[in-house]
Amino acid sequence: MKFDAPTGNNPIDRMTVIGKPTDRIDGKYKTTGTAPYAFEHNDDAPNAAYGYVVGAAIAKGRIASIDLAAAKAAPGVLAIVTADTAGKLAKGNFNTAKLLGGPEVDHYHQAIAVVVADTFEQARAAANLIRVDYARAKGRYDLAEALKTAPLKGDSSGEGSAAPPIDKVGDFAGAFASAPVKLDATYTTPDHSHVMMEPHATIASWEGDQLTLWTANQMIDWGKGDVAKTLGIPKEKVRLIAPYVGGGFGGKLFVRSDAIMAALGARAAKRPVKVALTRPMSINNTTHRPATVQRIRIGADRTGKITAIAHESGSGDLPGGGPETAVSQTKLLYAGANRLTSMRLAVLDLPEGNAMRAPGEAPGLMALEVAMDEMAEKLGMDPVEFRVVNDTQVDPEKPDRKFSQRQLVKCLRDGAERFGWSARNAKPGSVRDGQWLIGMGVAAAFRNNLLMKSAARVRLDQAGVVTVETDMTDIGTGTYTIIAQTAAEMLGVPVEGVVVKLGDSSFPVSAGSGGQWGGNSSTAGVYAACMKMREQVAQRLGFNATDVEFVGGQVRSGNRTVALAEAAKAGALSAEDVMEYGDELQKQQQQSTFGGHFVEVAVNAYTGETRIRRMLAVCAAGRILNPKAARNQVIGGMTMGAGAALMEDLAVDKRFGFFVNHDLAGYEVPVHADIPHQEVIFLDEADPMSSPMKAKGVGELGICGVGAAVANAVYNATGVRVREYPITLDKYL
Ligand code: MOS
Repeated sequence: MKFDAPTGNNPIDRMTVIGKPTDRIDGKYKTTGTAPYAFEHNDDAPNAAYGYVVGAAIAKGRIASIDLAAAKAAPGVLAIVTADTAGKLAKGNFNTAKLLGGPEVDHYHQAIAVVVADTFEQARAAANLIRVDYARAKGRYDLAEALKTAPLKGDSSGEGSAAPPIDKVGDFAGAFASAPVKLDATYTTPDHSHVMMEPHATIASWEGDQLTLWTANQMIDWGKGDVAKTLGIPKEKVRLIAPYVGGGFGGKLFVRSDAIMAALGARAAKRPVKVALTRPMSINNTTHRPATVQRIRIGADRTGKITAIAHESGSGDLPGGGPETAVSQTKLLYAGANRLTSMRLAVLDLPEGNAMRAPGEAPGLMALEVAMDEMAEKLGMDPVEFRVVNDTQVDPEKPDRKFSQRQLVKCLRDGAERFGWSARNAKPGSVRDGQWLIGMGVAAAFRNNLLMKSAARVRLDQAGVVTVETDMTDIGTGTYTIIAQTAAEMLGVPVEGVVVKLGDSSFPVSAGSGGQWGGNSSTAGVYAACMKMREQVAQRLGFNATDVEFVGGQVRSGNRTVALAEAAKAGALSAEDVMEYGDELQKQQQQSTFGGHFVEVAVNAYTGETRIRRMLAVCAAGRILNPKAARNQVIGGMTMGAGAALMEDLAVDKRFGFFVNHDLAGYEVPVHADIPHQEVIFLDEADPMSSPMKAKGVGELGICGVGAAVANAVYNATGVRVREYPITLDKYL
């Protein structure tokens, strides 16, 4: 099915099942420990040996020599694979550095060997007996230094919003120079780690030349392709299985070393092999959100109308990598006739930078929305009003392009009302509660809505059970549930009457989980398959397809009513389809999601301890398929945004080129006790341009702008403007 224009009313619009706060289908399996994660498929791959991945101990240089003798002789060791014995390996489409290094080393903890043994302890002990001599080379690890000579670089890949290296509209320099009120400020965000709960893990099993991987991955088809490419085998010889994924946040978009090392280890040991990256390995071995340096200039007239806006971002990555697209929201969020956005990319020899939840917008808004707060103060305007005054209903770079839906103003106004914003004292440092300084902050949330083609298969058996199969993943987002709701709505059966099977590359290729496109795109694929199923059912029953209704487990047309199961009496039915989108669709109208974040903080006047007291998000993100699951996503994003504002910081060792705090003791993230009260409101909205589902993504919108709202609240509380994240107490001095 091709979607290239609004379809008007369709069966989904009945909203008898869609739009209801249905409990997560996978919830009971997760809370009872019976949902198997990658490392736990012991029954599927019995007798698996354990692989332990050895990471390079230098960041850049060569392996001069590697001595495996002692490790090979260690108890239980079955095989050791290094670049010398792995055979020819290619780099995957989605990896910047090779997943098995040697003799060249591209970054710290790049995998250089996998040791396979009968037990995990034996593999680890043997790995510690490997002796490696390195010839260390000089690396580039200092972003600020490297940016001094870094070239402009655009990006159109991955799941971030595309942005060219430089974009100009009007005459920014002239307009900024003559603006009566202006700001020129630079903000920095540090490297961030996904630190998802389930580590990167894979069990690999070969049967002849057929490879099966039970793995933790967000994008099954990308993964299947990259495993095949890396190992130099045909794609159809690879099967990926990931029914449950314990978080990803972008860290599992792409195949990482756990999968490749498990496959190589299993081939060498002639046994299934399971590999989980240890937490320290995962932080330096896999990807992270790159640090940024962002300069923002805004000029406005005295009424608060922006006349000039520039956002220039710099980030770094390994050779061949891409920039963090931190300017993308600035291209679309506010009006202003004279505009400039640009990105610079420095070469760094740190581990690979890549997508992390709302790549681009998450760090970009941490800068832009503080700059907006600073401008509002200079103008003597309320920060909500300043944003409202500069709202735009069209793409400010291409004014003949409208937003398909844009309720940013309502998000901000409703949020202000609900939060009690009018009680905020605009004078910083003026509200006290005992020894605590109290402040409120606001920020806009913005994230684009990307459409990805997605396929599914729907089956109806003689008992009337509907089964949906797609390689879509549920990374903790509620995919099982919204897909069941979609099929239930389309075929008129209860949610419990739908069996959903996900995360297997033998199923039709879905959109996968990334870029907050998963919810709308994967259910749209299920919608397409269900439309085909409805036709088949109508045909079997001899119904007129134009007026047939599927309600309450029955099929109705005219004055005839037949149980749905009847249609499968003569044999089970199966329907498969893919939802595709015309290129023009996203060009004609800009599809984005919006929100307003409101935060109240308390900063201890004596110790500088910062506590978040309450958070509110008001979101406009198309039709909300399941408010309960969507709320989960948004509060998760808000919590992650709070971490980005106050805690999270991968500390770079600029001498040796690695992230020092490579575990959960050193890399701090918020816990429940850090966030006492969170509220999420969704505006009633349906976007007919997004798909027949009329839904959009929320999984990334939740994090967008939160960091700035916290920072602005901290400023309101203390009068100290911190422009270098995270806002730790030392920065109040
Ligand atoms: Mo993407 S950073 O996995 O949502």
